[in-house]
Amino acid sequence: MENVGGKCNGAMQQRAGRRVVLFPVPLQGHISPMLQLANILYSRGFSITIIHTCFNSPNYSKHTNFTFHSIPDGLLESEASTADITAVLTLLNANCVTPFRDCLAKLLSDSSEEPVACVITDAIWHFTQAVADSFKLPRIVLRTSNVSSFLAFGSLLLMQEKGYLPIQESRLEAPWTDRPPLKFKDIPAINTRNPEDFYRVLSGMLKETKVSSGLIWNSLEDLEQSELISFGQDFPIPVFPIGPLHKYFPASSSSLVTQDQSCLSWLNTQAPRSVLYASFGSLAAFDGSQFAEIAWGLANSKQPFLWVVRPGLVRGSEWLEALPSGFLEAINGRGHIVKWAPQQEVLSHPATGGFCSHNGWNSTLESICEGVPMICLPNFGDQLVNARYVSHVWKIGIHLENRLERGEIEKAIRRLLLGTEGKEMRDRIMNMKEKVYLSLRHGGSSYQALDSLISHISLF
Ligand code: UDX
Repeated sequence: MENVGGKCNGAMQQRAGRRVVLFPVPLQGHISPMLQLANILYSRGFSITIIHTCFNSPNYSKHTNFTFHSIPDGLLESEASTADITAVLTLLNANCVTPFRDCLAKLLSDSSEEPVACVITDAIWHFTQAVADSFKLPRIVLRTSNVSSFLAFGSLLLMQEKGYLPIQESRLEAPWTDRPPLKFKDIPAINTRNPEDFYRVLSGMLKETKVSSGLIWNSLEDLEQSELISFGQDFPIPVFPIGPLHKYFPASSSSLVTQDQSCLSWLNTQAPRSVLYASFGSLAAFDGSQFAEIAWGLANSKQPFLWVVRPGLVRGSEWLEALPSGFLEAINGRGHIVKWAPQQEVLSHPATGGFCSHNGWNSTLESICEGVPMICLPNFGDQLVNARYVSHVWKIGIHLENRLERGEIEKAIRRLLLGTEGKEMRDRIMNMKEKVYLSLRHGGSSYQALDSLISHISLF
């Protein structure tokens, strides 16, 4: 085992009590909630050890209270940079078994440290259940997305086992009767070279979650009450819907990429609620023609916009080469484009009036927490489920579900920022925001779930 971690310098405190070992999946949307959870547990008196892969290693200097241990993940540079996320997760689940086991064995045998109460690993790390079992160590799962998409993944797998997939083109608009209010076209599939890998990762996640010692959701009862009841019928394990995790501590320090702070000074020059923020998370990708449609939609709306164009957002492009010619002249200084933004600060800025999003769960939750209504452009997986809930259940966003086309985007931006429909959505999302804040306060559902989690871990 390679151990480049050790204790981070300086502020590491001597902590009485117990240690919790956490193991995040090395993707932005998974690392952030895990590190936020680590901060919460630390604030409740637990010492924190993070085991992490070399790929997308967290920045130790931002988390001086934790002990870090790096394990080799065996990922070649070409494999790590692949857009096939299922292939990466499959490789990691295979490559990390021995390094994770060795690292954990060393931690457990280290008598100079506090005893380990349990491991908390991302639901996608399905192999960690067997490793934890072999040490007779409880494993709690962190599911960084929501309950509805987890249930949808379960139903997807059943359909696959029964041979019902793929769904015929003609049936895509029909209701997915197993999972209302979803339609068949919302089935959270992920494109991959080898679909069997995708089903294996999913079935590993579901099977090993079922036998875990509990599940922490980055979601909350007030948002997903009926989904939590359905979950409980199939998964008889303790659950802790303690989300939204990012609200326990001020702005995230877990960004893998430097956030361009010029966004905030630019927003300071804009009128209240006038700006459309467009950003599609860390994995979503478009082809050049789709990107051009988004660009013209933004330009033709004539509204100010802040656009995150992450390197890799456009397949086959380094960065902005795919911008259509004439675009910069057309926007005439009305837009600001960056590679990566301080998203939570952007969403909470008074100038931000709407969010054009891929509906990754972190982005969706962050938008709800700041009361910013959305335009939904889901790309793959759980994003399709989240977008349907945003548009059809919570009615806090406009779903561009049929065509990624400049006219549709332009219209949606104007409806959201200028129309009465947008105002109604803003009113609804402000109500949800209020509910979320109440859930985190004393006596609220997330507050209570966190207390139960702490008691649960303390009993191990
Ligand atoms: C992935 C999947 O795509 C998503 O569907 C799943 O729910 C989690 O894993 P990702 O694509 O990165 O996540 O999206 P999302 O879940 O929204 O997370 C992105 C995170 O990056 C958010 O916390 C957001 O605040 C942050 N971010 C994004 C920035 O800090 N700056 C940016 O410019 C863009």
